[in-house]
Amino acid sequence: MSATIPDAPAGTTSRIWRGVIEEYRGRMPVTEATPVVTLREGGTPLIHSEVLSELTGCEVHLKFDGSNPTGSFKDRGMTMAISKAKEAGAEAVICASTGNTSASAAAYAAKASMTAGVIVPKGKIAMGKLAQALVHGAKVIQVEGNFDQALTICRELADQYPVELVNSVNPYRIDGQRSAAFEVVDQLGRAPDVHVMPVGNAGNITAYWSGYQEYHRDGLADSLPVMRGYQAAGSAPIVQGAVVDKPQTIATAIRIGNPASWDRAVAAARDSGGSIRAVTDRQILSAFRRVARAGVFAEMASAASVAGLLELHEAGELEPGQTVVCVLTGHGLKDPEWAISGAAEPMTIPADVRVAAEALELI
Ligand code: F0G
Repeated sequence: MSATIPDAPAGTTSRIWRGVIEEYRGRMPVTEATPVVTLREGGTPLIHSEVLSELTGCEVHLKFDGSNPTGSFKDRGMTMAISKAKEAGAEAVICASTGNTSASAAAYAAKASMTAGVIVPKGKIAMGKLAQALVHGAKVIQVEGNFDQALTICRELADQYPVELVNSVNPYRIDGQRSAAFEVVDQLGRAPDVHVMPVGNAGNITAYWSGYQEYHRDGLADSLPVMRGYQAAGSAPIVQGAVVDKPQTIATAIRIGNPASWDRAVAAARDSGGSIRAVTDRQILSAFRRVARAGVFAEMASAASVAGLLELHEAGELEPGQTVVCVLTGHGLKDPEWAISGAAEPMTIPADVRVAAEALELI
């Protein structure tokens, strides 16, 4: 399916990033027979945050997975899920989504010339994400219900009809998403002391913990991080220890009341000496603005990790000098509404240099 991708262009020493399956082929469940469906996902930046480091006394790095091809970490798992579906001869895939999974499934299915069906909660997904699913030609169904209900429908569809489920209950999704932990260790040269991330359906925390454990077992990392997962307060079933029937939060990507990988998220927190906690929408919004003012435009759900970092700091649960990674799971451009709503209206001026200079307070 894919043409062979060279390591480096002729005449240069710069490497070409080949996507997570080729970069970590030995760790992915693929064979020579697997058609690799890739948009060159992964290889995302680990950005040192001066502002958050100064504030917390730690060395804080942001793993910006919003810079994946479809703007979220979902591409890491989708390259695996779609490649394996293609290998198995599937012609159609299906997923439930709060938006990012559907955008990714639509793009990778299109790349593989497969059909994607996506079921999303009506009126509860960001406009940019809906646009992505539509533009890539997915069959988009809005359900009068929430994500959890949409996932139940998709599971039944995959049981009863010839269609492959590509939600993170598909183990190949988790296999691909482990690559993010490999990258963090490769980029830092070690495992972080503390790893902070948002939790929704809980696939990603499962994948990160599995990836860190694998590198540790293989001697590529000397230590394991403490895993700190954050749900939104209105959608925090794991924190409350009970399914939330009507989850609410402005961070629509993690508006989930019954996470599929609940037990594995709890295990990751417990086995790493960490926790799963909740942050309020107010804390999430404040963290979102803080990160944006420092140059990184992440989506609201992603900011739950930074809100969590700030809470850990305020509670005195971080030690000075610790290396901390906060995962920013998706790009802010998917949902510009929130960014605009908090900002001042741009000034309008006549086309005149002097007026422009005055408006910019240059004179
Ligand atoms: N951050 C973003 C931006 C997400 O889109 C999601 C999940 C998460 C965090 C949580 O990750 O579910 O693995 O715990 N979005 C899914 C979707 C549910 O349908 O796009 P998780």
